[in-house]
Amino acid sequence: MRAVSVTPGQKRSAVLREVPAPLYGPQEVLVRVIDVGVDATDAEIDEGLYGEAPPGEDVLIIGHESLGRVERVGTAVRELRHGDLVVATVRRPGECLNCRIGESDMCRDGDYTERGIRGAHGFMADYYVDRPEFLVRLPPAFRAVGVLLEPLSIAEKAVVQSFAVQRRLRWEPKRALVLGAGPIGLLAALVLRTLRGLEVTVVGREVLEASAPKHEIVRRIGARYVSTLAVPVLELPRRFGAVDLIIEATGHPQVALDAAQILGRNGVLCLLGIPGRDETALLPAARLIRGLVLGNQVVLGSVNASRRYFDLGIQHLGEFERRWPGLLPRLITRRLPLEDFREALESRHENIKVVLEGGSREEVGEQPS
Ligand code: BGC
Ligand code: ZN
Repeated sequence: MRAVSVTPGQKRSAVLREVPAPLYGPQEVLVRVIDVGVDATDAEIDEGLYGEAPPGEDVLIIGHESLGRVERVGTAVRELRHGDLVVATVRRPGECLNCRIGESDMCRDGDYTERGIRGAHGFMADYYVDRPEFLVRLPPAFRAVGVLLEPLSIAEKAVVQSFAVQRRLRWEPKRALVLGAGPIGLLAALVLRTLRGLEVTVVGREVLEASAPKHEIVRRIGARYVSTLAVPVLELPRRFGAVDLIIEATGHPQVALDAAQILGRNGVLCLLGIPGRDETALLPAARLIRGLVLGNQVVLGSVNASRRYFDLGIQHLGEFERRWPGLLPRLITRRLPLEDFREALESRHENIKVVLEGGSREEVGEQPS
């Protein structure tokens, strides 16, 4: 089969190679890849700044946002059938308590692996093998947007966690800011608007024409788009009012620091963006700490997502479609065949989400199972 792999630590090492199709055991399924989303983590791994090959190997097959179809099922598998659409979660558990109860996104010891990122091969290939407990079945109606479920799970978790933290007090948030208008930012805006009814402002760097896809999506869900060139982050509350919840999805340390300073009383700042590994971090200001204390604020970090947030995402896909028919597929602004992975990595910035199409129709021989 074909697979896109990198040599971790080496700049621009992503190549499309022929590799043997993976074998599946009695408890596993073989999945044919339909779509793979490309994100900043993939680009960072290709830059040699992140990523780790599986133990004993030199290369890592990348790709962690996926949609696939079950092709073969091991003899002991009862949960899935041939033909099922599935989305794989990313982390594989280590030994800690959270990992053992299926919440490896809350891993305490850091001994998890991540498919396509850290110590385990990913999905940017024609096939992969996994156990049913890590595969989320997707209703066929959502095939076109199934590849968005992994990034959606990140947004779902951020919102659930932010509200969970605020159970410490009576909290009726009205206004949210989403910093960053990439896929995670737009999906977070969608969740906050549609499911929590908040007033949402999406803040991006670019000045967007009213006809730009991002701008249209934001307007359509009843949110507003603001460019930081028009209104700097520190000016936002003066323009639009006190902010109860901020989702930081840019990963720029300066934006995160500014965000902490504009948070309203009893506000929550949820940090999702991961600063690039080539970024020199800024020193947090005394003002930031003062604001946190005097405002009863919570700064909340959130990474990855367990299976329950994928399930929540599936439940909400139906809700999004009812409220805003045809909106979600518009987040995928470009589709390319697997061999154009380089173009996909490089055109990320002019797009909302770029998706690679896997799954050559080549036959996989019968395997012992
Ligand atoms: C992925 C997460 C992962 C994180 C850290 C993100 O790109 O979506 O699932 O845990 O990177 O490696
Ligand atoms: Zn763990």
